[in-house]
Amino acid sequence: MKIVILLAVAYLLGSIPSGVWIGKLFYGKDIRQFGSGNSGTTNTFRVLGKPAGIVVLLMDILKGTLATLLPTLFHLDNVNPLWFGVFAILGHTFPVFAGFKGGKAVATSAGMLLAYSPLFFLYSVVLFLVCLFISSMVSLSSMIAAVLVTLSTIILPYVWPTILPEHNWLLTLIAAGVTIFIFIRHRENIKRIKAGTENRVPFGLNQK
Ligand code: G3P
Repeated sequence: MKIVILLAVAYLLGSIPSGVWIGKLFYGKDIRQFGSGNSGTTNTFRVLGKPAGIVVLLMDILKGTLATLLPTLFHLDNVNPLWFGVFAILGHTFPVFAGFKGGKAVATSAGMLLAYSPLFFLYSVVLFLVCLFISSMVSLSSMIAAVLVTLSTIILPYVWPTILPEHNWLLTLIAAGVTIFIFIRHRENIKRIKAGTENRVPFGLNQK
């Protein structure tokens, strides 16, 4: 019973629509009506600016982190904490508090990694930033970083064990599943990337 309640709490945590609530509360704007129409961090930066973007980024990461730490905090030993991260990611993308129209799974997935291993999280952030520096596109960087992070879960224990000491098949499986999910959530972005019309950020080598 405890596991069901905590999985539900993880989903509810993930469901907190940070971008939508911050936009409505402090700016009188529903960010889903502007920019890319997404409720995530990137569109918050785009529509509401840096302070709101930073707050939403931190909130969306923390949702994944806190959810993944739930079993540890509530002494539930017989289930892998990553499953709680998965439920937070589902909440983030299909939030009960925002008509089931949520984000694209990136920041909350990063939060799950932060709970799993702060070092591996930092490594993943660096991968993402390198991709962003090269492409200047958050969407493309998110997708490529997700693929690289998944491959890294297999390769790092052999080539750089300081970052990830041992191979965990469940981590690889969940990272692969989340990567597929991230690609599906970026369908519209993929169309824009192909058409050469995807939004770019003022950072890196290919900014507008
Ligand atoms: O995490 C979402 C990001 O990859 C793309 O956001 O608003 O440009 O569709 P957006």
